[in-house]
Amino acid sequence: MPKPIYILNGPNLNLLGEREPHIYGAETLQDLEKRVAARAKAAGYATAFRQSNREGELVDWIQEAREKGAAVIINAAAYSHTSIAILDALKAVDVPVIEVHLSNIHRREAFRHHSYVSAAADGVIVGLGPLGYDLAVDAAISLAKSRE
Ligand code: DQA
Repeated sequence: MPKPIYILNGPNLNLLGEREPHIYGAETLQDLEKRVAARAKAAGYATAFRQSNREGELVDWIQEAREKGAAVIINAAAYSHTSIAILDALKAVDVPVIEVHLSNIHRREAFRHHSYVSAAADGVIVGLGPLGYDLAVDAAISLAKSRE
């Protein structure tokens, strides 16, 4: 069994389905987790799917993924726009890193246009809603296999 794909979610994503559904959609994080876990499993990969409202906890999980993960998919939510700590943690990761945002951050307020995470990501998927996570799983597996 290959190492799991870490799928890390930042602050307020626990409220998916309830929070600003016109922007983030109606699907809950639990539903999203089930779907992407099944998708990864069908390709032979387990997932470590997590959410935290705390920056340091996300840093700890990125460091864990560095040792124990096949790839990292990260939606750092608002921390994407502020966190040099998360950028530094991701820069220390050798496995593939895919950044995901449900909304198209480039079509929103100017303060969302820059993401620190992007500087450490192999690829970035924005604006496709929960589908972005499915595509990120496919991309993460493809990149992980090509680096085996
Ligand atoms: C988000 C976009 C961020 O700007 C925002 O702070 C979020 C969610 C997205 O998935 O679209 O919380 O990362």
